[in-house]
Amino acid sequence: MKIAVASDHAGYELKKGVMDYLSERGIEHQDFGCRHGERVDYVDFGEKAVQSVCSGKHDRAVLVCGTGLGMAIVANKFKGIRATSCLDEYATEMSRSHNDSNCLTLGGRILPLDEALHIVRIWLDTEYEGGRHQERLQKIFDLEERNFKP
Ligand code: RB5
Repeated sequence: MKIAVASDHAGYELKKGVMDYLSERGIEHQDFGCRHGERVDYVDFGEKAVQSVCSGKHDRAVLVCGTGLGMAIVANKFKGIRATSCLDEYATEMSRSHNDSNCLTLGGRILPLDEALHIVRIWLDTEYEGGRHQERLQKIFDLEERNFKP
């Protein structure tokens, strides 16, 4: 699995912790910024990472801003992206098993590193269940087709 990673300044430190964790697990990843000390707009960096998932270069994305909310809003503008802002174990597990989340957004000003890494671990390791959930995802794909303006 290849993961695109990005943050703004508010998510920078947590992003570093997430990247260290991915490295420890031998999971290939690429940092799309921002860099240390920059003050940036989360929109620009979320877009770069998510574009890489849309192009097929990466399988999933992990995006970090202050709350995880701005990054989720940005990511969900892109066709085929199912971004979920996760704060607890249950929602994280469901985001994968029911929603087939391909983009995790985290809040660097909300979650301490250990809790965030617990969420990342669950998100990485939980399989999508398919079955009845695939019919629901298909409705999302259909909805995207109806509303997508290239
Ligand atoms: C930056 O101050 C903050 O607004 C941003 O990181 C994010 O939380 C937005 O959703």
